[in-house]
Amino acid sequence: MCGIVGYVGSRPAVHILMDGLGRLEYRGYDSAGIAVLDGGKLVVEKSAGKLKVLQNRLNGNLGAARLGIGHTRWATHGRPTDFNAHPHTDCRHKFAVVHNGIIENYQELRTWLQERGHEFRSETDTEVLAHLVEDFYRGELLQAVLQAIPYLRGSYAVAVASEYHPEEIIAARQDSPLIVGLSEGEVFLASDIPALLPYTRSTYILDNGEIALLRPDGVKIFNSRGEQQEKSVYHVSWDLRAAERGGYPHFMLKEIFEQPRALRDTLSGRLDPLTGRVRLDGVKLTPSQALGIKKAAVIACGTAHYAGMVGKYLLEKLLRLPVEDDVASEFRYREPVLDTSSLGIVISQSGETADTLAGLREARRLGARILAITNVVGSSVAREADDVLYTWAGPEIAVASTKAYGTQVAAFYLLALFLAQARGGAPWVEELAKDLALLPQWAEEVLKLDGQVRGLAERVASQEHAFFIGRGMDYAVALEGALKLKEISYLHAEACAAGELKHGPLALIEDGVPVIALATQSELLPKMLSNIKEVKARGAWVIALTQAGNTDVAREADEVIYLPPVPSLLAPAIAVVPLQLLAYHVAVARGCDVDQPRNLAKSVTVE
Ligand code: M6R
Repeated sequence: MCGIVGYVGSRPAVHILMDGLGRLEYRGYDSAGIAVLDGGKLVVEKSAGKLKVLQNRLNGNLGAARLGIGHTRWATHGRPTDFNAHPHTDCRHKFAVVHNGIIENYQELRTWLQERGHEFRSETDTEVLAHLVEDFYRGELLQAVLQAIPYLRGSYAVAVASEYHPEEIIAARQDSPLIVGLSEGEVFLASDIPALLPYTRSTYILDNGEIALLRPDGVKIFNSRGEQQEKSVYHVSWDLRAAERGGYPHFMLKEIFEQPRALRDTLSGRLDPLTGRVRLDGVKLTPSQALGIKKAAVIACGTAHYAGMVGKYLLEKLLRLPVEDDVASEFRYREPVLDTSSLGIVISQSGETADTLAGLREARRLGARILAITNVVGSSVAREADDVLYTWAGPEIAVASTKAYGTQVAAFYLLALFLAQARGGAPWVEELAKDLALLPQWAEEVLKLDGQVRGLAERVASQEHAFFIGRGMDYAVALEGALKLKEISYLHAEACAAGELKHGPLALIEDGVPVIALATQSELLPKMLSNIKEVKARGAWVIALTQAGNTDVAREADEVIYLPPVPSLLAPAIAVVPLQLLAYHVAVARGCDVDQPRNLAKSVTVE
């Protein structure tokens, strides 16, 4: 859950490292540091706090360095202090290490190394690697790392530099992403592609167990036995603008406004709106295999899980396929009942979420076929799945997931059509396909509500609590709306299945409390109107979301946000947008750090 960068070449390394760390700050931002070779000496600068603290500390120094590694941290072992910030060094300060992940057996290793005379300075798990490398070093950095790595249990992406090797960085990965950027006379390293984009689009995406030797004249990849490997270059097609703020004050707002494009890209080339036929290149499921699926299990975390809840409603309603849904951290511990006739649907924007990966592996162990819905090509989830349905949302930088959600929901509509096709067709296919093709257009329409939502946000921002209610698919959207609001504005937000109000939550409704009522499911509208009356009678201030034309809602609610005329089945992909905007404007009004909310990180690669 941290960001790693590295550079070796002929340009000033500090500038490139700091630039890369800035692009990776979403991965963690409680401390940062760099290690560079300056005048033949290994120099480490690091500090608790955001990157700008380190920037101030550097104050333009170390400009001569041409090699370095850097790190932006999200604390797991050890508090966010200067000492615990990466890079970590060995006893004599000759080897520097940055690490993303968790070394599970670090206590054991630490004791063993201490017995051998090593002195530790931090509380981190990472420091053991610096001492292991020191212990094994006999003149070749690569050999020392190759010997140290098998001692580590857990997940890691690491980069190692040494004063003894002024032109070498060694990088290794196991269950945490690491990408090498290739260019003439220089080599880059990063945890994620956006950090490389200003410099190169030619990359090696390291696989688990691989170790890379980076030198200005090229990169060599080895397996864990030290045997050199052939590796194909992956050319990144994103442009840099796509990974930058593009004039918006925050990445979150930019990403909300990118949704029409993200939906268009996710659908295009896959859906024929006239016939309803879909082509999903990464899904290799044959018609007979599709017919053999008796049950599906959705496995995901956070926003991805709420997209999966929509998927559950959808697949059960349209295909009569039983679907379980779990947050991944619960799935693996509840002894789920899956077998070879099950389909595990694993959803993850990053494709690197540790709990989700563990859930995937558990589902596979039980015999299920795995279909991944993910946004990152070459991510761990994508590589471990049998079938992959990529969402083409583009890089999502803000911690709060927005455009990924809409595209994940869109992926479920495609999947429903695909499964129906594999099963020989269904009466709803043509209508769903025709409507689905209109989704990007409706997303454009709904963004025009930004002004209205901003006005409502001012009043919500002054409250202490907010409630989101809905029925059916609207309940899943309510959960997502509440998550968005609480995670970035720190306002207490709770979602409730509207029918459950009277079983407890109604006790919390008092004068002026905002209740956001989702009313997009036409079959459930009369019931929702009753629930709106219920909370109104207790003094709630009700903001309702419904499709244009549902005038009954306006009679009951205080405010109505009218969505474009999207059919109930497709409403979750659109109704979420005003809720994202609401969370955004409330967070801005409350002066919160929208893109980097406290205590959170974008990619949760630890359990
Ligand atoms: O990368 P993933 O989709 O696996 O991430 C899952 C969650 O960590 C993520 O959706 C999280 O809940 C977001 N902060 C929500 O905005």
